[in-house]
Amino acid sequence: MSINKTDPRIVELRERKSAARQGGGPERIVAQHAKGKMTARERMDLLLDKGSFKEMDIFVTHNSNEFGLDKQRVPGDGVVTGYGTLDGRLVYIYAQDFTVIGGSVSYAHAQKICKIMDMAMKNGAAVIGLNDSGGARIQEGVHSLAGYADIFYRNVRASGVIPQISLIMGPCAGGAVYSPAITDFVVMVKDTSHMFVTGPDVVKTVTHEEVTFEELGGASVHGSKSGVAHFSADSEADAIFLAQQLMSYLPNNNMEDPPFVPPTDDPLRQDEELDSIVPDNPNRPYDMKEIIKRIVDGGQFLEVHQHWAQNVIVCFARLGGRPIGIVAQQPSVLAGVLDVDASQKAARFVRFCDCFNVPLIVLEDVPGFMPGLNQEHGGIIRHGAKLLYAFAEATVPKMTVIIRKAYGGAYCVMNPRHLGADMVLAWPSAEIAVMGPEGAVNVIFRREIAEAADPVARRNELVADYRQRFANPYVAAAAGFIDNVIEPHETRPRLINTLEMLQNKRDQLPAKKHGNIPL
Ligand code: HXC
Repeated sequence: MSINKTDPRIVELRERKSAARQGGGPERIVAQHAKGKMTARERMDLLLDKGSFKEMDIFVTHNSNEFGLDKQRVPGDGVVTGYGTLDGRLVYIYAQDFTVIGGSVSYAHAQKICKIMDMAMKNGAAVIGLNDSGGARIQEGVHSLAGYADIFYRNVRASGVIPQISLIMGPCAGGAVYSPAITDFVVMVKDTSHMFVTGPDVVKTVTHEEVTFEELGGASVHGSKSGVAHFSADSEADAIFLAQQLMSYLPNNNMEDPPFVPPTDDPLRQDEELDSIVPDNPNRPYDMKEIIKRIVDGGQFLEVHQHWAQNVIVCFARLGGRPIGIVAQQPSVLAGVLDVDASQKAARFVRFCDCFNVPLIVLEDVPGFMPGLNQEHGGIIRHGAKLLYAFAEATVPKMTVIIRKAYGGAYCVMNPRHLGADMVLAWPSAEIAVMGPEGAVNVIFRREIAEAADPVARRNELVADYRQRFANPYVAAAAGFIDNVIEPHETRPRLINTLEMLQNKRDQLPAKKHGNIPL
């Protein structure tokens, strides 16, 4: 059959596609822009490689006639779905279109999302969801809820198999929040995106608290207080750029290695500045990010949860071109102590890296777990256990560099050899002990200090002695608990060499259905 563009069937097809691409129509597109938001298709164009997007289900419509829905049948039904490439790699994508009935989720809308999720699972590629929706399509009742649950089910099945990234670019309320919450990373846009289980009106009715959308569930709140958002972007373009950067560190699926990029930074580069970065006084802070910058390729790293639980840093970077995940204490925030939030943040990151074959590097300077009623009642036992569990369970290459303090239970948690680390290195500034010298002396020499003629002088003497005997890396090195003590400037080449050495690491957990991480 020869078909030309004046053929009525071609004309009809083009008209139908053109109508679908208009979403809710020009007026609603103008309204969307007026809110400082892009349309679903504009967002996709910016995210994917130019011209790579292939749309599916453009003609799907909902089949409900309730409450006037029969007069609101827009082809595509409020979500644009399909696949394309990002930096040349296949990704599946959906973008909710707020211009069509507020991007609300009908059963048909949900099935479109489920279809691309199923395809992504079959073909081993990431799913990126751009969320901008008023939630369940109220007129559809349980059909809409069923659609949501179908999505959640797939989110869970896909977890750990393919990367899942959620960009929140408008409202995301009620039970709808649970799909992004299951995905690996949530990126929110400041001012224009909101996530909450119940909105300000319900909150006011139930708890009498008066809050704005932004205070309740804006990007800043979720990026710094709740930890729901892994990234808070200043604009939609920024959020899209973050997703692109993030994907550059991730494999397409759990059977592949993350993407190698030939390094332009010399793998043998040594940085002499590292030799003087840790202050002589063990109680003085310094910025761990300076150390990270000086070690990784090109000084580039992508921090996850940058504004939440800042006493621990988790980030992606490259070493010798290979993606790595770094977990590091930040001594300049709460002395780098491990608390409830820091434990959860680091544990989730470790588990993500382990799912997707991203080797782990720990840069350790931890004075211990945070003491206090707040922490104990908040479940520091349960949450600290998550981190320990995550490191012990991880089978990817695992390396630790003890920069300074590795005290007490925190030593046991932060990827020591005993939890299966493949290489533990220490700087000469490392102090590995059950507790800091002052605390230790107070416990073991309490009576002797009290009975001394000059208790202060005796205490100082004992602290100095303890420091000299234990506050160093050599006791642990003598026991073989750390594999070597290195000069700080050697760190980059040593880690790159170790990564190469571990390239073919094979390690398996005992056969089980799944473990029982202390959630
Ligand atoms: C049907 C909806 C809708 C919804 C919005 N619309 N949300 N239609 N179901 N859930 C429609 C509006 O009626 C309106 O249609 C159009 O979309 C645009 O919405 P506006 O209200 O004009 O936009 P805006 O002022 O920007 O406000 C956005 C909003 C608000 C804050 C999201 O629309 C809103 O509060 N919507 C309801 C949110 C909600 O309660 N959802 C259910 C949550 S429970 P017209 O034709 O008038 O322009 C849930 C359960 C999921 O989602 C459970 C999963 C387990």
